[in-house]
Amino acid sequence: MEYLKGKRILLGVTGGIAAYKCCELIRLLRKAGAGVRVVMTPAAEQFITPLTLATLSGAEVLRDLFPSGGSVDHISSVREADLLILAPATANTLAKMAGGIADNLLTCCLLAARIPVLAAPAMNCAMYENPATAANIRTLRERGVHFVGPDVGWQACGESGPGRMSAPEAIFREAADLLLRPGQIRGTMVITAGPTEEPLDPVRTLTNRSSGRMGYALAGAAAMLGWRVRLISGPVTLDPPPAVDLIPVRTAAEMMDAAWREAKEADCFVGCAAVADFRPDHAARNKIKKCGEESLKLTLVPNPDIIRTIAGLDTVLAVGFAAETEHLAEYARHKLATKDLDLIVANDVSSTETGFGSEDNAALMIFRDGREVSLPRMRKEDMALRIISEINDLLDRQSRESAPV
Ligand code: PMT
Repeated sequence: MEYLKGKRILLGVTGGIAAYKCCELIRLLRKAGAGVRVVMTPAAEQFITPLTLATLSGAEVLRDLFPSGGSVDHISSVREADLLILAPATANTLAKMAGGIADNLLTCCLLAARIPVLAAPAMNCAMYENPATAANIRTLRERGVHFVGPDVGWQACGESGPGRMSAPEAIFREAADLLLRPGQIRGTMVITAGPTEEPLDPVRTLTNRSSGRMGYALAGAAAMLGWRVRLISGPVTLDPPPAVDLIPVRTAAEMMDAAWREAKEADCFVGCAAVADFRPDHAARNKIKKCGEESLKLTLVPNPDIIRTIAGLDTVLAVGFAAETEHLAEYARHKLATKDLDLIVANDVSSTETGFGSEDNAALMIFRDGREVSLPRMRKEDMALRIISEINDLLDRQSRESAPV
């Protein structure tokens, strides 16, 4: 999903062996839809070629402080960017930043930057632990520079300790977090996603086919459209979207506890999880044996209805999903009313093309006032953006209506 579409990154690369890792960082940023422009120090060119970085970023690399055309690249490139990432950030460049030295194109950009700066230090552990470096990092933090890492471990010089540049994925997550942190946060949205797993014995569970994809897409879209997102997820194999707080759970009871705790502090609750309606009345302590029996009888007891409980909090806007195999609109309207929801998103789960586990979905949104919006088949990521936009519009309308005249 293109979480960072429209965002522009200026990536400063300095002279350290970790420079090779910025290739993967550029790939992650571009895959997320961000535009990347690279500026290199002369020392960085000893480790990685401008051609490699130009090819990966799809743009000419900035390297010359005195270009023949007389352009002022250090001013225009930082003016056009939303974030400056310094990766790797060597001890030397951090020292220059702290001292306000601008002796190459990248250090000029850093001095001219009025945008957030994220630095990923990378250096030998003795250099990192040197009081001069520690003082420089402290100074830069005080001035508002953001840091990610460094990690601790074996280093290219053969020593072990702190100073390894963070993994590209970690730098990407921090960058996305800074870029998606909106100036004006709408509030907190709690989203449930994925299946629940109800244990029968230590090795068996009752569960369902939810992949979590719809709920995770909602979480990504909500973060992008101005929400602080708490994602309560059953067991799935997906990575959480950037800038989303993940709360992993397994059973419906665990999901209920987390939902109650989080929803009390939230403004909106979206129940996209496929919660087991029933669970075994007890989980056997040891693996259930066959023992020659022809059949095995299970006694199931009801799980709490999470969204119905949360909808009772009149401080949150409650949005549910309805997974139906027949009479889609009729059953969904019934759930909207009995669970006391503000909005229900009804999806037909009888097809393999949409609903559980698929890349696409198709749905009917039904609002408390009876208004209906049909969402034709589309990718779950696109549907998530439509649903969150509708939620934002609904809240905007409600706050206009309740504003004093
Ligand atoms: O995860 P994917 O593979 O992407 O699939 C997405 C999905 C099909 C699971 C999703 O779009 C969806 O429909 N989620 C709701 C599944 C469901 O449990 O529907 P339901 O009709 O049984 O429940 C209605 C509502 O009550 C849902 O908001 C559900 O989260 C909630 N519920 C249900 C039971 C329960 N004990 N507590 C609940 O809160």
